[in-house]
Amino acid sequence: MTQIYELGLIGFPISHSFSERYFKEKFLNEKINNFDYFLFPLENLEDFPVFIKNNPKLVGLNVTIPHKKNIIPFLDELDSSALRVGAVNVIKIFSNGKKIGYNSDYFGFKKSLETLLHTNPTTKNTNLSSLNALILGNGGAAMAVIAALQDLKIHYEIVSRQKSPNTISYNDLTILKHQKPFLQDFQLIINTTPLGMYPHTEFCPQIPYESITNQHILYDLVYNPEETTFLKNGRKQGASTKNGLEMLYLQAEKSWEIWQ
Ligand SMILES: NC(=O)c1ccc[n+]([C@@H]2O[C@H](COP(=O)([O-])OP(=O)(O)OC[C@H]3O[C@@H](n4cnc5c(N)ncnc54)[C@H](OP(=O)(O)O)[C@@H]3O)[C@@H](O)[C@H]2O)c1
Repeated sequence: MTQIYELGLIGFPISHSFSERYFKEKFLNEKINNFDYFLFPLENLEDFPVFIKNNPKLVGLNVTIPHKKNIIPFLDELDSSALRVGAVNVIKIFSNGKKIGYNSDYFGFKKSLETLLHTNPTTKNTNLSSLNALILGNGGAAMAVIAALQDLKIHYEIVSRQKSPNTISYNDLTILKHQKPFLQDFQLIINTTPLGMYPHTEFCPQIPYESITNQHILYDLVYNPEETTFLKNGRKQGASTKNGLEMLYLQAEKSWEIWQ
């Protein structure tokens, strides 16, 4: 009889899951019949050790809200991706019980951005270290973006509603810098806030869209709807745009690679 290896998602509440749909379809399409993927709504992480003990066929997990940070003390080791981002969204479980945490958002974003910058007409012949990026929002997803930008040696500024020495404010974006619109210095603008995500599709980050030109690239981590108000506003000004769908698929494939 074929041994079935179990994978799954822990988080709370879990109403719908891209990962479950993605892996069930993948296993079906690629005729992978020794793996299955389940949803595990786990409200309290103190129950995690018992949960692992009760599910001995588990070889890997995805981790979602609200456990991405608090899961860390329950793991034996962190991969450098998780260490740098400070959050875990993939766990590999070894047969001896050892559990290692990873962050696949970092890998997904980095790969997707590299492809974008190497193919986009405004950046493909440019040294990446000459680019400036503006990161909108300073939450968990921003940490993955920061780690990727650091690897690619792209200079960045973080825009946050919270005052801090390491961030700038949304008001700063409306000022003129050396008589030029502030946004002119930032070829890449990355939305890591949830603004504009379904069902609140009318929202978007408050930036001076009138300063956006055809030299800008707008990247939205949000993938539903396909074109957010942020991206639509940028496209109307002539900018290149990209949503978070490719990153979503790449991070899922990275999870699979980690579990192999
Ligand atoms: N495509 C993918 O594979 C992928 C992967 C991960 C995440 N995501 C998406 O990325 C988004 C962010 O995820 P996250 O986990 O980082 O979420 P989060 O922690 O809830 O929010 C990120 C940051 O956005 C800012 N923000 C939140 N609400 C805001 C508002 N009303 N106005 C202005 N700024 C606001 C906050 O930064 P400040 O307080 O500093 O302003 C917050 O820390 C979500 O939509 C998520 O679905 C996509």
